[in-house]
Amino acid sequence: MPTPSNPAPLRTFYGRRKGHALSTRQKNLLKNLLPVLAIELPGEEGSSLDPEILFGPDKSACWLEIGFGKGEHLAWQAERHPQVGFIGCEPYVNGVVGLLTRIEEQNLSNIRICHDEAQPLLAALPRHSLGRVFLLHPDPWQKRRHEDRRFVSQENLDRLAYVMVSGAELRIGTDSSQYVAWTREQMARRRDFRPMTELTAAGSDSDGLDDWPPTRYETKAERRGHTATRLIYKRT
Ligand SMILES: C[S@@+](CC[C@H](N)C(=O)[O-])C[C@H]1O[C@@H](n2cnc3c(N)ncnc32)[C@H](O)[C@@H]1O
Repeated sequence: MPTPSNPAPLRTFYGRRKGHALSTRQKNLLKNLLPVLAIELPGEEGSSLDPEILFGPDKSACWLEIGFGKGEHLAWQAERHPQVGFIGCEPYVNGVVGLLTRIEEQNLSNIRICHDEAQPLLAALPRHSLGRVFLLHPDPWQKRRHEDRRFVSQENLDRLAYVMVSGAELRIGTDSSQYVAWTREQMARRRDFRPMTELTAAGSDSDGLDDWPPTRYETKAERRGHTATRLIYKRT
């Protein structure tokens, strides 16, 4: 159990970092474009990452997507919200090249990439620096013995509560009813997040989900007959 003198570990990633072999174009994007957009986490304890330095002073807010997969949702948001600076965080290299491809094709200039797990990034961000956070289809870790691997945990919610501004949205999508129940349970223990909306993805536009396109994972899940649930919490 984490305590103030024994905090929760920052590195806990259990997923895959690599998938199928990369094409020449993807290798070139990793070699040439990723270094331009990659976020270097400050090495020294106590120093923090300044979103204003990452994006310049003209951005109205900084939003984060944790585990962006192939990046379709992040690129969609970045294209529609050019006044916002986006940080995408993803340890899976085949996902990162997916986002890099979109950045290049769509000529997006408001995305920076943390090619790593989210916890060290959250630890480096200053207090009240994020205006919105997306956690879309986090790995569900269905087995009981793997519950402590789920991203929605009290430790990660503490980290998010610290970096999110008051009134910021935390959007969580999942097609796992178990993960919905788990999230509700974890959130019920918090005073710093308030439930705003809970929707199923079916019939999106009319339900006010037109600012939330389905991710690749969600589309695949719906093809298998699963229904995605979208949960929105507000940082109090
Ligand atoms: C099931 S996939 C969903 C991908 C994408 N969000 C979508 O909906 O298509 C979960 C993703 O979260 C990433 N992930 C897992 N743990 C993470 C962590 N601690 N920080 C950031 N990303 C993480 C995985 O690498 C994977 O790409």
